[in-house]
Amino acid sequence: MEFDKVVRKRKSSNQFSGKKVSWKDVLEAIDLANQGPFAGNHNNLHFLIVEELNTIKDLANCCEQSWISNSNILIVVCSDDTHLEDLYGERGRIYSRQQAGAAIQTLLLALTDLGISSCWVGAYTDEFVKQKLKIPQHINIEAIIPVGYEKKMPGDEKKKKKELESVLYWEEWKNSRRATLFEESKEDYNPPSQ
Ligand SMILES: Cc1cc2nc3c(=O)[nH]c(=O)nc-3n(C[C@H](O)[C@H](O)[C@H](O)COP(=O)(O)O)c2cc1C
Repeated sequence: MEFDKVVRKRKSSNQFSGKKVSWKDVLEAIDLANQGPFAGNHNNLHFLIVEELNTIKDLANCCEQSWISNSNILIVVCSDDTHLEDLYGERGRIYSRQQAGAAIQTLLLALTDLGISSCWVGAYTDEFVKQKLKIPQHINIEAIIPVGYEKKMPGDEKKKKKELESVLYWEEWKNSRRATLFEESKEDYNPPSQ
């Protein structure tokens, strides 16, 4: 699918048809999510795949979102701040969150491109998930991504997003207008060679 179509098609789904998603497709999507970017190219992420149905049920209960148990595969995206924090201090912890977010978005887009529906789930009790999946204390759970094939429901069209103009500033905070004065000459400007 063309990139813009994938981006616009992606949406959160919590209604799955029951048709099973292949772990091979999930690996393909994770492989893409694993391509970065990463600060200093230090990849701090881990992807934990859960296929065991009883574990999926327990995690659905933990999230208090019963629809999750209709998924046959969950991807638990985890991050480890340790190395980034050693390298970049407090900023490293921020990088860790950012890298996880970037990877999660790539993951959602890759799944969309494969025709697989998904949802970024952020509501869970970290301690429960860590205990259930034997995740060490120092690891962050960044998201749980249940996957499935879409069950079309009336009225579940893609949610409307903010208009571009309402999120856009030019040159200065809150300035919504692009200066048009000398616009053409600026675009044609070629710096003189030394
Ligand atoms: C950080 C984060 C946490 C989220 N947690 C949940 C969640 O726990 N359960 C859920 O159903 N959706 C969750 N979502 C999905 C949002 O509800 C969804 O992205 C939003 O409604 C916009 O819809 P769209 O993804 O279809 O564009 C989460 C999304 C993000 C980015």
